[in-house]
Amino acid sequence: MRIADNVRALQWTGDALRVLDQRKLPGAVEYEDFDSALGVAEAIRSMRVRGAPAIGIAAAYGVVLAAGCRHAQNPGTWKELIGEDIEILAASRPTAVNLFWALDQMRNAIASGGDDTSSLLAVAQSIHEEDIAANRRMGELGAELLKGSSGVLTHCNTGSLATGGYGTALGVIRSAYPQGVRKIYACETRPWLQGARLTAWELDQDRIPATLIADSAAAWLMRSGVVQWVIVGADRIAANGDAANKIGTYSHAVNARHHGVKFMVVAPTSTIDWDTASGVEIEIEQRDRKELLSEYFHREDSVIDAWNPVFDVTPASLIDAIVTEKGVVLNPTTEKMKLLKGQS
Ligand code: MRU
Repeated sequence: MRIADNVRALQWTGDALRVLDQRKLPGAVEYEDFDSALGVAEAIRSMRVRGAPAIGIAAAYGVVLAAGCRHAQNPGTWKELIGEDIEILAASRPTAVNLFWALDQMRNAIASGGDDTSSLLAVAQSIHEEDIAANRRMGELGAELLKGSSGVLTHCNTGSLATGGYGTALGVIRSAYPQGVRKIYACETRPWLQGARLTAWELDQDRIPATLIADSAAAWLMRSGVVQWVIVGADRIAANGDAANKIGTYSHAVNARHHGVKFMVVAPTSTIDWDTASGVEIEIEQRDRKELLSEYFHREDSVIDAWNPVFDVTPASLIDAIVTEKGVVLNPTTEKMKLLKGQS
């Protein structure tokens, strides 16, 4: 059985990055072309493109666009001038380490490349293609762990929309579907509704049946015994295995442990921040209070505020498996993560 994978969030057109505007899904499927690094940075900041690997890939193409523009401005100094564009891209969102990883790859390519910009597009395209290949490999490895299971719960959107294609956690679910994992539950993922809007739309496009639940229904679902695994992605994994992911993930991990449900984090090694010893050091993005507050409370004299951290950190001790394209780490610790690093 070949499982469908029809959605692509990012496409290189030849002279621009075409972005599927995820703010508008599922109501409207609209693409927008960005032909500058500034435009790509804004696409990331505004969450037209989101999801850790997709953010990194978009930023890599942003550097390609910046290089073309800076070289046209001044072929002698473009390598210095582009530093400013890379800084703007780096400031677009703080938590997903794939952004900084991809920008480092591009910086290295600029430093080791010639005086022209011709090699940079190939580097960005290989970051894009390697992400899809990593997702397929993680799909196989994660599906192995799901042998004998029939139900899973996922959070946020970790599919083709959040990556180069296929997906991380959703990639594992795609791969496990033909082997009998048919009860797929997706949390709506407040406040931005990545689950209700994006995961539901993506699975509908690929005709993979799933059931949406309110975030607050997760513990009750786990208690029913219908899911054996919670499967999520990550925006940054610390060197000890602590994993930052969409707000609400930590609650699922606590609930999973209480109910004897296993907890799997699926992420490429580009999501691992080896320089961050543990999750306490990870910067958690806070977004606009207006994402939470209904319009009535947006007025100046309202005394109602909102606290809107959009990620949380799940401690390694609550994680049963971290699945990467280089291998699986069971019950992660700093020592086990070091062994994985040795293979990278
Ligand atoms: O705020 P978002 O939508 O960019 O957050 C996305 C997530 O938290 C995903 O779970 C994570 O990036 C992994 S995606 C493969």
